[in-house]
Amino acid sequence: MENRKDYFESFADDWDKNFTAEDLEILAFLIDTFHLKEGDRVVDLGCGTGVLFDILRRRIGASGKVVGVDFSARMAHKALKNFPFDNCFAIDADVEQLPLPGGYFDLAISFASFAHFTRPELVIAEVGRVLSPGASFHIIHLLGSKELAEHHHHAGGPVARDVLPPKEKMLEMFLLGGFRDFRLIDQPGLYHVLGLKK
Ligand SMILES: C[S@@+](CC[C@H](N)C(=O)[O-])C[C@H]1O[C@@H](n2cnc3c(N)ncnc32)[C@H](O)[C@@H]1O
Repeated sequence: MENRKDYFESFADDWDKNFTAEDLEILAFLIDTFHLKEGDRVVDLGCGTGVLFDILRRRIGASGKVVGVDFSARMAHKALKNFPFDNCFAIDADVEQLPLPGGYFDLAISFASFAHFTRPELVIAEVGRVLSPGASFHIIHLLGSKELAEHHHHAGGPVARDVLPPKEKMLEMFLLGGFRDFRLIDQPGLYHVLGLKK
């Protein structure tokens, strides 16, 4: 299967089984450090079946919004089915061209998806566009960059060569996207990039 969108479509039905209770605990712990507040608007890039939706929606309350974006219509549909809450939305779209208003979001998160984005510079620029000044962008994988490259190599198919950009490249893209206070952690079990929109 060569087309990467078809590749992800084919996993949508069983994708939820990938997560353990421990993964969810680690994610909840990490997301607590983002200091989300009541009413915040969050965009989840490459949201899959919505693994983050429940963690996020509880922290932003009924007046906040979680908007997931995924180019696999089956993934986005499953996210909505899994989390049919008034403050959760899922859009079938490419993260390179977000059908979302400028300056609208308080936080953007890309969990377990950034290495799959084939033109990361476009994605970072789009995220920069939809975030409000001072808002944060988090890229997270529960593997270090080397572990992730090996994981994708084993998975094979269209994702076999999907890797995270080197630190210097990531920094350059964040600066071009209008971000400041760039931080990157890359260790076994965790990759976390953070930037704040100027
Ligand atoms: C490894 S999955 C992770 C999904 C979800 N974040 C999770 O952790 O369960 C990567 C997701 O990114 C989506 N994706 C990859 N490239 C994309 C793009 N250019 N635009 C939108 N979604 C994309 C795929 O369809 C897939 O659902």
